[in-house]
Amino acid sequence: MQHIYLDYNASTPLLAEVADAMQPYLINFFGNPSSRHWYGRQSREAIELARAQVAHLLNCCPEEIIFTSGGTESNNYAIKGSAFARTDIGNHIITSAIEHPAVLNVCRYLEKFGFETTYIAVDEFGIIDLEELVDSIKPTTILISIMQANNETGSIQPIKEIAEIAEENNIIFHTDAAQSVGKISVNVKNLGIDLLSVAGHKMYAPKGVGVLYKKKNIKLDKFMHGANHEGDNRAGTENVLEIVGLGKAAEIASRDLASNYEHFKELRDLLHKTLKKNFPDLKLNGHPEFRLPNTLNISFPNIKADLLLDELESLAASAGAACHSGSVEISHVLQAMRVPEKFAMGAIRFSTGRYTTRKEIEEAAQTIIDTVRLIR
Ligand SMILES: Cc1ncc(COP(=O)(O)O)c(C=O)c1O
Repeated sequence: MQHIYLDYNASTPLLAEVADAMQPYLINFFGNPSSRHWYGRQSREAIELARAQVAHLLNCCPEEIIFTSGGTESNNYAIKGSAFARTDIGNHIITSAIEHPAVLNVCRYLEKFGFETTYIAVDEFGIIDLEELVDSIKPTTILISIMQANNETGSIQPIKEIAEIAEENNIIFHTDAAQSVGKISVNVKNLGIDLLSVAGHKMYAPKGVGVLYKKKNIKLDKFMHGANHEGDNRAGTENVLEIVGLGKAAEIASRDLASNYEHFKELRDLLHKTLKKNFPDLKLNGHPEFRLPNTLNISFPNIKADLLLDELESLAASAGAACHSGSVEISHVLQAMRVPEKFAMGAIRFSTGRYTTRKEIEEAAQTIIDTVRLIR
């Protein structure tokens, strides 16, 4: 059976160029980057090159890049780090109802330590209401954490406006950009972001590596305690091999951003158009315009997503977020968007990527059409 991968929001393959860049660090260059000798210097230089490559992609200074173990750690560090660093100012955190568990569960954990969280609502397209955000600010608000693009629907939040509101109120602004970096332009300076999380494996780098962008003047309580690695921001000998991979992936993402955007979108829209023509009752979940170019979350009314995915054996896609697959529960994101149950049960996320071809999309569309007709 020929498999078709349409789950790039769950994870991306390593690019060959990324694997080539990493190869020397698998065996030959093994020195500890903190060592002063030649071996150590090879690793140090590789990390600093990667830092510059990521900084270029995000438009920040290399010193503002902290390498982490992935999106989850970056979110944990950003949220716990700012919460515990600002206890003298307040204890209130604002986030949204549609965040990834790597944000929601961090906030819930902090509630055990006396922090208070407001989970602001979203509209039917999965976008937050800026007025509600302003209204939820208290004198004790220390942090706003709102994701840039949602992993399930691809809906993109008004990040620049949120950053402005945060700045006017002297509140730190963190955004989980695990899904957006590499798919749309993410310019931290233009957007006015204080803290931003990146996940390597969503942008053709390895799993288990990520970045926290931390604007120069932002103070965080330490998350990993130990020696003073990463500019004394994150203890633990650096994962040189994967950091090199992430750096290379960032360089390629900058280089190919415009062409990737067009490619992802053209094929995503072709799939949508073909399915919509055959099933006029198909529902798009997510914003029709402010959405990642590669993400198509659609519902076939009265069909269970799990059942459909089981039947679509040759296609790799997700029912709700990948992290929750296997569960038939309606995702918290679709619940927050108040998608009616008959649609929400059948929501499937298709996400295109660099290796998706027109032929694959045509084949996938035909398989979906045949399968849905059969089930119905
Ligand atoms: C929006 C979002 N945030 C955070 C994460 C977690 O990133 P990682 O898998 O690198 O820990 C993911 C991954 O699914 C994600 O989609």
